[in-house]
Parts: sequence; structure tokens; C-alpha cells
Amino acid sequence: MHADESWWRHAVIYQIYPRSFADGNGDGMGDLLGVLERLDSLKELGVDAIWFSPFFKSPQKDAGYDVSDYNDIDPLFGTLADFDAVLAKAHSLRIRVIIDLVPNHSSDQHPLFQAALKAGKGSAERDMYHFREGKDGNTPPNNWPSVFGGNAWTQIDDGQWYLHIFDSSQPDFNWNNPKVIEFFHDVLRFWFDRGVDGFRVDVAHSLIKEEGLPDIEEISTSMTGSDSEPTEEKPHPFWGQDGVHEIIRGFRKVSDEYEDRAMVAEAWILPLKKMAKWVRPDEYHQTFNFAYLGTQWRCADLRRVVDESIYEFGQVGAPSTWVLSNHDVIRHVTRLAYDEIPKQGDGIGPNYPQPDEARGQRVGRAATAFMLALPGSSYLYQGEELGLPEHTTLEAKYRQDPTFFRTNGDRVGRDGCRVPIPWEADAPAYGFNKTGKSWLPQPENYRRYARSEQAGVAGSTLELYRRLLKVRKEFKLGLGSLKWVEELCDDSTLVFDNSGVRVVANFGSPIALPAGELLVTTQHDLTIEGVLEHDQVAWIRL
Ligand code: GLC
Repeated sequence: MHADESWWRHAVIYQIYPRSFADGNGDGMGDLLGVLERLDSLKELGVDAIWFSPFFKSPQKDAGYDVSDYNDIDPLFGTLADFDAVLAKAHSLRIRVIIDLVPNHSSDQHPLFQAALKAGKGSAERDMYHFREGKDGNTPPNNWPSVFGGNAWTQIDDGQWYLHIFDSSQPDFNWNNPKVIEFFHDVLRFWFDRGVDGFRVDVAHSLIKEEGLPDIEEISTSMTGSDSEPTEEKPHPFWGQDGVHEIIRGFRKVSDEYEDRAMVAEAWILPLKKMAKWVRPDEYHQTFNFAYLGTQWRCADLRRVVDESIYEFGQVGAPSTWVLSNHDVIRHVTRLAYDEIPKQGDGIGPNYPQPDEARGQRVGRAATAFMLALPGSSYLYQGEELGLPEHTTLEAKYRQDPTFFRTNGDRVGRDGCRVPIPWEADAPAYGFNKTGKSWLPQPENYRRYARSEQAGVAGSTLELYRRLLKVRKEFKLGLGSLKWVEELCDDSTLVFDNSGVRVVANFGSPIALPAGELLVTTQHDLTIEGVLEHDQVAWIRL
């Protein structure tokens, strides 16, 4: 058992994507009132904390990741008073609350950017962002691409260009300017003072840009820097610059002014050795483990990434985290139905080969049961407890992700994982609200996945998640340590022990279950007693 039992070291943290969780006022867009009404269901599920994707004031050009006021709630989602009510209720249920910090860029509507536009060339206001002259008249200052497609510069009327590594509505802040640092420290304090338990820091690895903003040698829109992993010798000019660590230390100092708070980095940069640098003792508490998320359900690959994660994070005294789904990737029950994973952020549209739903459900449930037995903290994305698949046939006319527009539809983007989740099979919008409106249309198969169809039904994915979380808590798996049971592992079986639980994952033909009390299994019914079929996981009491 780990000596430090801080909550974030072992918590199961559930991501609420406010636009799509529950809609209290019936306008088709999820909101805080909706969250308040549905919080009890998260208690029943057994999560320890919630992470909220942005609900701040925003023109919603990138679904709220374009913030125009960091210290207020967008009327779409409610008011500060609504947030206080959610926070109070969550705390009364002993659920912690983490919110999103979006420090790489603001909205172009943010007063600071508007002031920069007005103040003109060479002003202190422009120095809050990255404004530059172009190369010979009409060419952008360098060749940097936007993650969402196209290039990362937009020209304004006076001829200067501003940098945006995401959409043109998301200008990048200049983190070499101490005023930017001060501004964000105040934002942290504003929310810590209100009582939030932590922050998830958006694109935490991109804040510092290489001096002189040099061209990139290998152009790629991948968040990991390039399609081949960046190395120490070949750093990337905006992903994972060393200077970012000073900024992180500053954040950590602010969070250490408060008790028991935690910050988690969203930093896609690979490999794990580099990821572990974000979580040295005076930096972030955690970072998402995207190496794990990117690993297929394959015996040897999984073992390798688990070993490497535990080792690399262990080197800096941090717990590993684990995650399979979020609002930027194809939902894992759909993703894992493919042999080759489509590129992160590209999404699946009607023209793409459609997934094998049964295979996805089977492998997805197994992947979750495997993940939740690992020591460290785990992240869940709303709807995955229902086994909710990606909407893979969304028509172009409904698309909202800037990626779709910036690539003329070549990359359909992330809308398919952001569709409002189903609560009641026979209610309007499957219970997302009472009016039947929905900002993205829900596919018909969501009816089958509604919570009402699964609650209390033995073998349902919802009941599986509940049971996994219950047993995980009872045995304190999050604080434990992993030991492979070598004599039972082979090319298609992984077996490990953690805190009195033996976890068996079968990737191949049916195997005999080791003896012991069966605590939980993904297998719908153990028809042949004592046999674990392929793509199934069992937890057994040692
Ligand atoms: C992060 C968010 C993503 C957003 C991007 C720009 O990756 O998770 O949704 O589009 O940052 O803020």
C-alpha cells in the first residue's frame, strides 16, 4: 500500500462534458442545473471525483475551449451560483470537483485579445499574445500548422499575424510575458478560493514556444509533436519545450497554497519518459497517460505500456494514471473494434468502414475491467459506464468541430464522441432533457444503451462498472501495486495480483479460471463454469 494516500493518487475521476451530460432548462444544450439533478447517479456509480470540461464564458467556437472570461460561467450552462450549488452538492456526496484551465490560448473575443488588436504594433497589449510580421508581405511568419488543419497564423488588418496552434478563434498567449503568468495565477486562486479541488490543464505542454519561432522540419498536426516521436536531440518548437517546467512549478506553488488540491496535465507528448517529467515532485500531480489510451487490446502491447508507465512515473514518485476515453478521441468501445486505430482527432464518419459493435462492446468492457484493476488513478468519460458507442454516421450538416471545417471535411473530427448521453429509453432525447432538443442528434441505437435499460440488470455494462468500482474501493486497488503472475501469463493471457485480487485477462482461446472466489467478470454469463472466454477479464479474490 502506498504510504501517501492523497485522494488523487487513487481516485476514479469521471469527466463531465457539460454540453452533453444533462440539460436542465431544455434548450438542447447540457447545463449545470442538469448536472445538479443527476449528481446522485454518479454517487451510485461510485466515482470519487468529477472533472468538468469548460463551462466558462465562451463564443463556443471550440466547444468552450475558447474562453472569453475565465472567471465566469457561460449563460448556456448557468451562473456562478449554479456552479456553487453543484460544488456544494458534490462535496456533500463526497465527490471532489476538478475544473478545466485553458492557458495556452484565449478566445479571440477575450478583452485581452481585443485590447491587443486595438493597441497596435509593438504595444504591451500585443505582447500578451504572439504577433509577428509575415515573411515577404503575405506569407505567415513560419510554417507551423494548426492542430485542426490549415496553418497556425492569421493575418489582421494592419498586416501583422497572430499565432493560434488551434482554431483562428484561439490566439496563443505569450507565456514569456510575466503578466500572462500573473493573470493565470489569479484565475487559479479565484477557483481554488471558491472551493474547487483541482484543475485539468489543457494542452499543458505547449505554453512555451521556441525562441525565434523557427520553422518545423517535419510537419504534422499530431499533438504528440510529430508522427515519429520527438527526441531530446530533436525537440519540437512548441510541444514540450523545456521552458514549460518553470511555468508548471509556478502553478504548483499556487496550488500548494491550498490544502489537498491537485492538477492534472493534458499533455499528449510521448514517450512516457518525457511524460513523466510533467509530474516531478514540484510540478503537476498527475498527467493523463495517453500512451496507455493509444494502446490496442493486445496482450504484449498492454503489458509493455503498463510496465513502462509504472516504471517511468515511479522514477519521479508519481502514480500512473489510466484512461481510455475522453471528448477528443473515438469512444473506446468503438475504437477497440478496429485493428488499426484511426488517428487521434480524425473521428469516424459515414464513409469510414463501420465498426463491429459486438466486438467493440466485448473488448471495450474487458479493457475497462483491466484498467480499473491497475494501481493509480483512472479517468472515465461520461457515457462509457453505459458502453456508449461513438456516433459514427453523423451527417456533415450537424458537424461542429473546427477540425471538420479547417480540413474541408477530410477529417470529420470529434463530434461523434460528444453526443448527449441517454438516461431513459422512452423519454424525449432519451432523458437528456424534457423537450427532446439536442445540440447534436442522438443515434437511434442510444436507446438500447440508456441507463434505464441497464440499471439493476445483471451483466449490463452499467452494473459491471458499479461492481468494478465497488470492489476496487473495497480492496484499495488504486493504492496498491502490481505483480505479474509469470507462471500464468503467456502470449494471450495476462495475470497480475494487486492488493489481494488476482486479475486475469484472456486475449485468446478459452482458458480455465484460476481457483478462488470470483469477485467480478466481464463475461455475461459463465456458461461453462470456471472457463474464461476470449476478450474477457475476471477479478478473483486471492
Ligand atoms: C485540448 C482539448 C480539446 C481542445 C484543444 C484546444 O486538447 O481537450 O478539446 O480542442 O485542447 O483547446
